[in-house]
Amino acid sequence: MLMTSPRPTVADTSSAPCAADTPLLVVRDLTTQFPTRHGWLTAVNHVSYELRAGRVLGVLGESGSGKSAMLRTILGLQPKSTRISGEILLDGRDLISMSSSEREDMRGASVSMVFQDPMTALDPVFTVEQQLVETIRRHSTLPRSEAADRALELLQTVQIPSPERRLKAYPFELSGGMRQRVVIAMALVSNPRLLLADEPTTALDVTVQARVLDLFRDLKHRMGMGIIFVTHDLAVVAEIADDIAVMYAGRIVEFGRLDDIVRSPQHPYTRGLLEANIRPGQHDRPEAIPGSPPNLANLPPGCSFAPRCHAAEAACWDAVPTFVPVSPGHGVRCLNAVRPVEAVAR
Ligand SMILES: Nc1ncnc2c1ncn2[C@@H]1O[C@H](COP(=O)(O)OP(=O)(O)OP(=O)(O)O)[C@@H](O)[C@H]1O
Ligand SMILES: [Mg+2]
Repeated sequence: MLMTSPRPTVADTSSAPCAADTPLLVVRDLTTQFPTRHGWLTAVNHVSYELRAGRVLGVLGESGSGKSAMLRTILGLQPKSTRISGEILLDGRDLISMSSSEREDMRGASVSMVFQDPMTALDPVFTVEQQLVETIRRHSTLPRSEAADRALELLQTVQIPSPERRLKAYPFELSGGMRQRVVIAMALVSNPRLLLADEPTTALDVTVQARVLDLFRDLKHRMGMGIIFVTHDLAVVAEIADDIAVMYAGRIVEFGRLDDIVRSPQHPYTRGLLEANIRPGQHDRPEAIPGSPPNLANLPPGCSFAPRCHAAEAACWDAVPTFVPVSPGHGVRCLNAVRPVEAVAR
């Protein structure tokens, strides 16, 4: 179900439990570059994948790997100077080639985002009700009183305790978990088909995190939303994702169903991430991945992970590895990956 440049190969996902036959979102060869003093910085590098309604794609990667840049590109929120190429098809319509007003309509109606920092998404001088009602009225023709009813309904959907009271509260009066739920409620105003969630649980303590993850699960099952859930935390993604994309230096280096990635990681970077996170039931100390990611404005010619890879060979420094399928729905960008034939024989 994924891959990348220059020609995406679509792996077999026919056995996946899909809510619909056609993908909700198709991202093809997406590249996002920002101008910097040192030249173009490639934050998203030939990324391709598909997402079906009712499924969650977990995007995993270290800080600076391009996770937020990818979501903001899908949403159409990058600065004008950004160079973007490739395709982003939402229900078959290409978002990149749309006019800005069409894009704006699409953003309101079909796709919305839970931003990384809940405080920046909320205005401290307005109550929760004022902010929700304003957002609802921007997206509909509802009169104020009905918009207020809808605001209450949304707080109930995100399971905020005593929702009537919370409507009258200012953001600073709410706990971190409640603020995050309000931000999620805001993103649900237009009943989007695609929800982009950027580290929605990072700032939360573990019990609140678990409840917010339940909420996302509910949105997926009950409302059939397609969700892209970005995190640097494997334990979180393991709770919620159907598929996982592992990003490194702007590229997807491994993609597969959750079980395949956790049980049979192929890329040394994915293995490093698995070791850096304590797996359920495992009590060893996590091992960090040595070294740091490359400068995205000056990428090495070969595999971006080669300088940190214990298994790197001479060929790894020469050219970026192509994305190869290793089993249905599972692929990797690594010269040392298990090839399809070996994968079948295992
Ligand atoms: N508007 C911009 N102009 C220039 N560079 C940018 C811009 N937005 C992002 N970048 C750069 O793109 C790269 C990827 O950033 P991004 O925010 O997508 O990382 P991330 O994976 O979301 O990291 P984190 O886990 O810390 O949130 C970084 O090097 C960042 O500095
Ligand atoms: Mg980010």
